[in-house]
Amino acid sequence: MTGSPDLLASLSKIEKMDIDPYSGNLFTYVYETGDKKLRNIQHKALNMFYDRNALDFTTFKSAAYFEKEIVRFAKSISNANEEVLGTLTYGGTESILLTVKSARDLFRKRKGKEEVPEIVLPSSGHPAWEKGAEYFDLKLKIVPIDRESKKVSLESLKSAINDRTALVVASAPNFPYGTIDPVKEMGQITRDMGVLLHVDACVGGFILPFFERLGEKVPVYDFREEGVTSISMDTHKYGYSLKGSSVLLFRNPEMKKYSNYINISWPSYIFVNTSILSSRSVGPMASAWTAINYLGMDGYQSLTKKVLSARKYLFKELSKLGFKSTAPLESSILSMYNENVDLFSFVYGMQKRSWHLEIQKAIQDLVPYNMHMTLSPVHKKLSKPFIQAARDTINSPPDPDFKKLMDGLSAGDLSGLMTMIADGNINPAMLVKLLEQIPEESAKEMANEIVNGVFR
Ligand SMILES: Cc1ncc(COP(=O)(O)O)c(C=O)c1O
Repeated sequence: MTGSPDLLASLSKIEKMDIDPYSGNLFTYVYETGDKKLRNIQHKALNMFYDRNALDFTTFKSAAYFEKEIVRFAKSISNANEEVLGTLTYGGTESILLTVKSARDLFRKRKGKEEVPEIVLPSSGHPAWEKGAEYFDLKLKIVPIDRESKKVSLESLKSAINDRTALVVASAPNFPYGTIDPVKEMGQITRDMGVLLHVDACVGGFILPFFERLGEKVPVYDFREEGVTSISMDTHKYGYSLKGSSVLLFRNPEMKKYSNYINISWPSYIFVNTSILSSRSVGPMASAWTAINYLGMDGYQSLTKKVLSARKYLFKELSKLGFKSTAPLESSILSMYNENVDLFSFVYGMQKRSWHLEIQKAIQDLVPYNMHMTLSPVHKKLSKPFIQAARDTINSPPDPDFKKLMDGLSAGDLSGLMTMIADGNINPAMLVKLLEQIPEESAKEMANEIVNGVFR
């Protein structure tokens, strides 16, 4: 079988199971520039370094080299001073988990191990924060966001902080609505109360600086605010690197120490991890370095221009079709609702026309059902066909089978859904509708069963 061409044929078949990640037909999960030259050189970089193990950056010195260079660039666009130290992780979630672990250990050092430390998180914050709280045994306190601004309510934030607070989180921007929490005001509060403030700029870290350069109004969210103690920013999002890298920056070198893991007592070599994972490929680091050096400041700026132009066009044209934004436009994310169309049918119709959109929850007194669009540079040239498809979908009658399934679900009839699951054909929009009709704990359990089913 070694080297069998059948394997390549099989891989080509398997590849067709997926949506083409370069197509620009989706608005989450991938950040596509549309620049094939960049993609090719990154794949070359990935290949060249894939078999090197970043676990030992003294043997594979390229790992330390790439990490230092990438961190240097991340610092330069985040207004970090010399003191700030960084770590390269494998993704936003890993950066967040490391932040939680460091905050917990710093809290324990200051207050002892008796108290359960707390994280204060705006309700628009990413699930990785709850995951971190679960993994590392912290208590999560979720505070509401304001109905109009979709930013954290400062009053609620203030009253949630106490002497057990280990960490407060701001997003720049948050994923659901794309708004930027009021980091300046939050920093004032956390400084006064002596607690850490992390800015989750996993999405915004590599694009907001270029919004600013292009003259867009961006509220201060980085190290210019003295209260900010750490920032996560993902190279594999708007840094346009291949998947597998994110940067975590610490204002205080002591915090980085709490994120490092060192073991000198086991019987083998001196064991050092600067991230959660241990053995890991240098490939994604090489890819991130390549993206940064290929693009440079001007390259990032011109890609950001494309994102802004896509946002302007899509917002204008979707508005003409009756869509409204759930929030003020502050970043590269759109979240839109439409009171005149059934959003579930719309998203289904768009899917039939090869456009993949996610539906976000309706939340009482906050938002109706809305669709999420994280925009990439490639969307600039695709905005027109997207709008044509949207117009066509709205003007066509809804698919009767889909409507029947959704009506059935609303009436508690699960049979249609179960058939789809059995066929391995899960429609995320249907799951949203199904799971919200069940009490949260049961819905979680059901989702868990469905997931196990997928991998059976
Ligand atoms: C605001 C925010 N933080 C963190 C993450 C987690 O990043 P990753 O998927 O790279 O783990 C995401 C992912 O979309 C995000 O939107």
